[in-house]
Amino acid sequence: MCGIVAYIGEQEAFPIVLKGLKRLEYRGYDSSGIAVNNNLNLNLLKKQGKVAELEKYAEEFDTSGTVGIGHTRWATHGAPNDVNAHPHLSGNGKFALVHNGIIENYAILKKELISRGHEFKSETDTEVLMHLIEEIIEKQNVSLLEGVRQALNEVHGAYAIVIISKENNQELIAARKSSPLVVGIGKDEFFVASDATPIVEYTKNVVYLEDGEIACISLDSGLKIKTISNVEKTPYIQELELQLEALEKGGYEHFMLKEIFEQPRSIMDCMRGRLNLKNSSVALGGIKDYEEKIVNAKRLIIVACGTSWHAGIVGEYLLEELARIPVEVEYASEFRYRNPIINEGDVVICISQSGETADTLAAISLAKERGATILGICNVVGSSISRLTDCGSYTHAGPEIGVASTKAFTAQVTVLTLLALMIGKKKGTIPSNRFNRILFELNSIPEKVEEVLKSDKQINFISDIYKDASNALYLGRGINFPVALEGALKLKEISYIHAEGYPAAEMKHGPIALIDEEMPIFVIATKDASYEKVVSNIQEVKARKGKVIAIVTKGDTEVKAIADHVIEIPHTDDVLVPLIATIPMQLLSYHIAVMRGCNVDQPRNLAKSVTVE
Ligand code: G6P
Repeated sequence: MCGIVAYIGEQEAFPIVLKGLKRLEYRGYDSSGIAVNNNLNLNLLKKQGKVAELEKYAEEFDTSGTVGIGHTRWATHGAPNDVNAHPHLSGNGKFALVHNGIIENYAILKKELISRGHEFKSETDTEVLMHLIEEIIEKQNVSLLEGVRQALNEVHGAYAIVIISKENNQELIAARKSSPLVVGIGKDEFFVASDATPIVEYTKNVVYLEDGEIACISLDSGLKIKTISNVEKTPYIQELELQLEALEKGGYEHFMLKEIFEQPRSIMDCMRGRLNLKNSSVALGGIKDYEEKIVNAKRLIIVACGTSWHAGIVGEYLLEELARIPVEVEYASEFRYRNPIINEGDVVICISQSGETADTLAAISLAKERGATILGICNVVGSSISRLTDCGSYTHAGPEIGVASTKAFTAQVTVLTLLALMIGKKKGTIPSNRFNRILFELNSIPEKVEEVLKSDKQINFISDIYKDASNALYLGRGINFPVALEGALKLKEISYIHAEGYPAAEMKHGPIALIDEEMPIFVIATKDASYEKVVSNIQEVKARKGKVIAIVTKGDTEVKAIADHVIEIPHTDDVLVPLIATIPMQLLSYHIAVMRGCNVDQPRNLAKSVTVE
């Protein structure tokens, strides 16, 4: 949510910052801006719309200079327009600031600043912070670093900021609290960004700032870190594992399509070194030290948002079925505000692709305060959530750039499956022949996903028929109910068609009223324990002239005879069906969105990483 990039060194800053903003555009894309210090002058360029608009606009201006900051915005305070776009200048024009997060007490601060003569151009909380810093520097005659430090002691809320000064092109200051920031260390140059993606092509050495830390980056004295309470810290330099190719489209038209097609590999990567067929075992290295606690947990509470929450519901079915531990799945945003009961022996599992979602982070802090053990399932290595948890498993899906989550979901479900198997085996809740069968099947999932991807042409054909629908219903039962929820979410996120996911049997308690001959109903009707029941639900839809697109097990004849279209998927164990049934849903949403002319990688109003409440 909002992307920040900054550069200081010997190269031209503008092209580096601009390229970085393009890499971070998935975080927000309603407006963008760059400020460059050109010979002790701050040149500021801001534009509503995508980064490409800013690039075009900048062609007419001088953008030279070796220190610069940039921002791509997802609006919180004030409409997305040129004025509200970042960077924001101080009243005296000496400083420029970019900010990701929300300054919660900005209204009071703004009132006070106005009463002392400050004038504001934008509606943003960011400009208020900029003026506060300026006032402290002017009144107390202190350095930029000290001005930032004191100002940050007066603000509440979340921030990642970078600030440059007109009078000093050898220094920039960055700080964070509850919003991520990474410093890249090159040779005589430094980079700052919301995540490592804009940095990786220049250097692999990075420092992740911690909450409450301020980095003073100087070409003379290097990187120095102190806390907002003025305690010096030693920077901890880490090496990035990220590969540049993973951030490119690799010949696909969209990142989303590339990521859908990557799933055979991403699921395999997620299982690598964890699933061992030879000795019939599952090992999750990242939770080893907490294994006993997890295996003996009285209750598991899963907290997550969005698609990760859907993976959590699949996890609930898996963990209850295979490990026989009661599971509760909570939206992180609800969990944190409802005084949750956490007992000794409870383990909280938090799931997050980005590892930066503000609500999930806050839920973890609350659960930690109340003494729970926290297990994290994250995709982004080194992310805030992965650092806050007691133990965890990375999903290893590789960078996910498309805003609609695809490969991260299947990787999350894969980790949850491995976890359920691991606990079930240790607890003896899965008979060994079933354990072996599931393990064997899980190992063949990448191949089966590959097979489903071959139906892309057929799915494209079906998409063309339903692309003009205004509503859609997704139905599934048992472990496939969350697959229906995820299918509906994918469609609405990227095609803006209103879609709802329901447990198939619940349809008759409301959504059935919506069905007419225009309405596509996507049903997961694979051969599993609830197959016959789902067939009855399909009959109910057909009796009301709804159009049924069913995902069925290869060779199915019963559903084929009544549905309008069927998409076949290979047979697998009941508990693994979500891993393959999800794929056609993703492809359907993708093709429908493309046919409707939507921007699938950057759908309107959404952001990939939601770092505000
Ligand atoms: C945003 C994204 C979703 C994602 C959700 C949770 O809403 O658009 O795709 O599922 O955040 O994100 P997380 O990174 O915590 O999984």
